[in-house]
Amino acid sequence: MSISKMIVLVSAGSILYAAFSDYFNTSSTPPYPTTNLSTEDDWDKIENGIHLKTGLIYDRGFDQVRANCTVCHSAKLIIQNRADRDGWAQMISWMQQEQGLWDLGKNESVILDYLSTHYAPLEKGRRDNLNIAEIEWYILDLE
Ligand code: HEC
Repeated sequence: MSISKMIVLVSAGSILYAAFSDYFNTSSTPPYPTTNLSTEDDWDKIENGIHLKTGLIYDRGFDQVRANCTVCHSAKLIIQNRADRDGWAQMISWMQQEQGLWDLGKNESVILDYLSTHYAPLEKGRRDNLNIAEIEWYILDLE
């Protein structure tokens, strides 16, 4: 196996692991009391524009998203998803119809701005394949 294939495999593995690490975490509560080394305040801070506790980008709309979107599930579900404004609006309305998400009122547009700005679809990573049949070939004349 070539090195580059191995790199691809290893990175695919780590991405999968990162996405599903919650499922692998089988640790249960230890039978002895544990002390929390970091205080709640430590943890609840912003570093490099990221709110550490939720992993969300800290920008306008963060407070509304945190208050409304991290109640039922972790912010990971948001971070792992990307969509344009329409796509986010559809996910929100799905949660409202099926999962008991409340009416977001005037916060909805702030939340949609935030989501569609920071969790927009990624650019396509590579160009489309060449359509060989449609290329007009010519002979290069070097004279
Ligand atoms: C009342 C509970 C509730 C609230 C509040 C809530 N959600 Fe959800 N959401 C759910 C449930 C339940 C699921 C499905 C979870 C699963 O499949 O494990 C879900 C799934 C999702 C998903 C994954 C959708 C997919 O297709 O995989 C995203 C993204 C999401 N929510 C974003 C949000 C955002 C953004 C907000 C704030 C506007 C929000 N949620 C607020 C209940 C909620």
